[in-house]
Amino acid sequence: MPSHITSITAAQRLDSRGNPTVQVRLTTNKGTFTGLVPSGASTGIHEALELRDTSSTAYGGKGVKQAVHNVTSIIAPALIEKKFDVETQLKEIDAFMCELDGTKGKKKLGANAILGVSMACARAGAAGLKIPLYEHLRLEAGALKAPYIMPVPFFNVLNGGVHSGNTMAFQEIMLAPTGATSITEAVQMGAETYHALKTVITKKFGPAATGIGDEGGFAPPISKPSEALDLLVEAVEKAGYTGKIQFAMDPASSEFFREGQYDLGIKDKTSPKLTPAGLSDLYRELFTKYPIVLLEDPFAEDDWETWSAFMAKGKEVKDMPEIVGDDLTVTNVERVREAQQKKACNGLLLKINQIGTVSEAIAAANLAFSHSWGVFVSHRSGETTDDFIADLTVGLRTGHLKTGAPARGERVVKYNRLMDIEDELKASGEDVVYAGTEFRTAHSAGGKEEGTKVPFNVFGY
Ligand code: PGA
Ligand code: ZN
Repeated sequence: MPSHITSITAAQRLDSRGNPTVQVRLTTNKGTFTGLVPSGASTGIHEALELRDTSSTAYGGKGVKQAVHNVTSIIAPALIEKKFDVETQLKEIDAFMCELDGTKGKKKLGANAILGVSMACARAGAAGLKIPLYEHLRLEAGALKAPYIMPVPFFNVLNGGVHSGNTMAFQEIMLAPTGATSITEAVQMGAETYHALKTVITKKFGPAATGIGDEGGFAPPISKPSEALDLLVEAVEKAGYTGKIQFAMDPASSEFFREGQYDLGIKDKTSPKLTPAGLSDLYRELFTKYPIVLLEDPFAEDDWETWSAFMAKGKEVKDMPEIVGDDLTVTNVERVREAQQKKACNGLLLKINQIGTVSEAIAAANLAFSHSWGVFVSHRSGETTDDFIADLTVGLRTGHLKTGAPARGERVVKYNRLMDIEDELKASGEDVVYAGTEFRTAHSAGGKEEGTKVPFNVFGY
């Protein structure tokens, strides 16, 4: 029996930074399902619009009352009238909302309004089909089933950039327990190392330096990336995981790109301004000194030339890490295509609120996979207790995700959900493997014969 939407309500709720966000509650004949929308701080200029009540003084102009109103007064009546079956028509629903908006960047209704509905529809569809959300999303994406791939969790344990008050320009320094054998073990390794890092920081800088940034990572008074990576080396060693935990960085460099230069002293005025070539050299130097397996947004969102040159030169670099586009590609098939043509990167950061519907995010992931890119699912720095992306990661077989430190409720809810999924799959006798060192290519594990339904037309149903 199909599942039709009978009501959609929305409300303003808080995200992890204490800013308002959109919560959607959608009811079908099978129950009521929610979607809570995350929000970025180092937002790319090409992202779909996050609608805020800028003309109001409430919450400092960050209210989302208009987006809530758009859900209840525009999206809800139109969607209910269409009588879509949420079990089989997620793509049609998402396409319909895009049409209803009618602009390229969801500027009329707001990506935050549309995404909340899309997430709730995905959940309602899974419930109607009586399958877990990850399985529903897997079927939506046309991804292979066996084995289920549990992702390597990339824990952001040192926060800088616009996510913290220290002087480090680089935004995120991450731990990746590639040497674990399961997500459960990986979480333990990450949490133990996080605690070891706290001890290391306390010893070096005193207990006052163990305050944390927006994603739960520590934010000690350091400026240089090498200082951050040295702290990780020490913490990993202290926790007993040397060789089993590798590193990743998201400098989020669009935030410190000024007039053609990368200003590493953007926060403390003492570190150098680097040319694109100088910053490229710095990255390559760090690759030789530390076990870095992934580098995200090394260059600014429109500095295409430097991205392409860095990738070209990367062919000569032994063990070149995965180079992931975030602000560059914004989970948008048009930007992903451009990045593929320009050979600018080989990994896609997947943030559902950058594009504003679940279907379009899946399309971007499939396009990335079709070019043998990696796909790295991501939370936002302003998160909620919604754990949707855990299921998305497993359903799409992306092999890796980042969702902050192994601390703070809005971060651990995703890691806990991943451990639940792993337990559930194992208990039901399903074939399940941990991506480990193969996190970049795990998507195609188990054979390529079925392939993926690559929707070169975003809504290619
Ligand atoms: P944001 O940061 O959510 O603040 O954009 C995350 C990232 O840059 O990857
Ligand atoms: Zn990023």
